[in-house]
Parts: sequence; structure tokens; C-alpha cells
Amino acid sequence: MGSDEADRDENTRENRDSGVGDDTLYGGSTIRTIETSRTADSDVFNVVHEHGRTYHSYKAGRYLQPNDEREQRRECLWAISMGKFGCLPSILNQAPKNRRSHSCGIAAHQFPGARIIGNDLSPITPPRIPANCQFEVDDVEEFPWIYSHKFDFIHARSIYACFEDTQRVIIEAAAWLEDNGWLEVQDWLVPMRCDDGSWDGTAIKRLTETAVECFRKAGRCNHSEKLPDMFRKAGLVDVKEEVILWPMELNKEALESATLALLTRYGNFTKEEAMELITMARVDLRDTKIHVYQPA
Ligand SMILES: C[S@@+](CC[C@H](N)C(=O)[O-])C[C@H]1O[C@@H](n2cnc3c(N)ncnc32)[C@H](O)[C@@H]1O
Repeated sequence: MGSDEADRDENTRENRDSGVGDDTLYGGSTIRTIETSRTADSDVFNVVHEHGRTYHSYKAGRYLQPNDEREQRRECLWAISMGKFGCLPSILNQAPKNRRSHSCGIAAHQFPGARIIGNDLSPITPPRIPANCQFEVDDVEEFPWIYSHKFDFIHARSIYACFEDTQRVIIEAAAWLEDNGWLEVQDWLVPMRCDDGSWDGTAIKRLTETAVECFRKAGRCNHSEKLPDMFRKAGLVDVKEEVILWPMELNKEALESATLALLTRYGNFTKEEAMELITMARVDLRDTKIHVYQPA
């Protein structure tokens, strides 16, 4: 990693003072409450400070985007802007059922009859959560998963470039589905695209190409386009794919969170060089002459 060590600080006390890790903030449930979960490590509640953002501390470095409030707000906006949770509302409304999800808080409100487990590397549980939902901190690439029951619905969102072996994760998820259960992944198709060359010579094109190269170096290649095939290889049937176009305006904030650690850790960029490119790319996104888009 080419990060600035002086800028990093695993600041446990700050988290404790802010209440992170306080069970009462978790609506009475605790991280890893299910009896068969692995044991929680003490560094689950730490954060890694780097270039003005914070990152997960449990298995630090595995995921390249921040986990601070700013990023959580952005993720929430993205989740809400997808317009609905799940492509299968009729199935989801059956109750009571078991679901495993990356967006557990929203889902729990939307489907009060469901029992939902949210999983993440970061303990980013919202302060107030519904009673039908619990959170756990775990690495989904740690196999086998450990649960006391199977799920009728497993959902993951925005997992592009998260995993070393996305196919293996899909196979594990499929194995934890009940008969007639459903797996859903909502994801970006990375990189951004432009069909008419109007982004040639722009910062947004350079940032996109550099990010793709850095993802490759990090061993975190994006696989969204291959997801339908991965589902089939995992033995799933009735595979459906829906592609939508997402407003680029909502992507401006994502430019920094998706690329700052990537460029500084894997692209030999200083923070200043990375921020300069990101800022120029943001300006490009506002330029209506540059026809760049992001399928999702
Ligand atoms: C882009 S965010 C989306 C999450 C958000 N809850 C949502 O549904 O919109 C991807 C999340 O995956 C988590 N993640 C990445 N790699 C992971 C892994 N190996 N195991 C568990 N969670 C992981 C990250 O910490 C991050 O919060």
C-alpha cells in the first residue's frame, strides 16, 4: 500500500466515545448475535483514517471505499434512488421469512414481516433499527458461511470490485438459499461509458481508465456483467437481468469515495494528485457536451 502511514490511525477511543459499539445503539441487538456466528474481533469497532476519510478496520484493506458518515449518506441515497428494494416484491411480502441483506435497515422497514440479517465488514449499523433486523460484521469471503438456517431471499448491493472471487460468493449464497429461494444483486456496470467519443481527452475518461487499471492491480476486477452467468454456474434457475440508467449527477460524490484509496494505494497518486483528477472529473460530469453514462 502506498498510503500515508502518518495519516492513518486506528482510533478505537474516538469510536467508543461516539457510541459505536454500544449495544444500546443497536436497538438491543448486538453485532453477531446469532449463536453460530464467529467470535467478534476487538478491531471490528476501529476505523482506519486515511486522507481525510475513514475505512473499515476489520480485515483492513479488503474494501477500498470509506465507511464514514459521508459515504453512508451517499450509499443511502443510492439505495433509495434504486426506487425499490428487490425486484421481487410479491415474494418479499410473504411473512415471516428469513432474509440476508446488505441494506438491512431499509429492507426491515419495508418488510416488517421479514426477519433480516445485515452483513458488512464495517459496523455501520444505524442508531435506531427495527426489531425485525440484526446486524453482523463478517467477511462474506470467509467460507463456509455459518448460520443456523437457510434464507428465502439473499440480497447484495453495490458489490462491484468488492471480492477476490465473486463467483465463489455467489455459489455460497446459492447454497444458503431455501428451495425456491431468491438471490438478488444490484450493482453498477463499471467502468462508465461513452458511446460517441465525446469524453476523449477528458479527466473523467482518464480517471475511469486509471481506476480500472488500479482495480486490476488490487485483484478486485468488476464482474457485474458476468453476474447472470455466475448465477447460472451456481445452479440457480429463472435468472433475470434488468439494466437501468442512473443519473450521473448522483455519481459526483461517488467519484471520490470510489477512487481516492484506489489511486493512492494502487496507482502511485499522492492525495493531492488524486483529488485534482477527481475534481476535474467532477467538472466533466457537469458538462453536457460530454456524454458519459453509468449503467447499473
Ligand atoms: C458499496 S457498499 C453497499 C452497501 C449498502 N449497505 C447498500 O446496500 O447500498 C458495499 C458494502 O460491501 C461491504 N463489503 C465489501 N467487501 C465485503 C466482504 N468481503 N464482506 C462483507 N462486506 C463487504 C463494504 O464494507 C460496503 O459497505
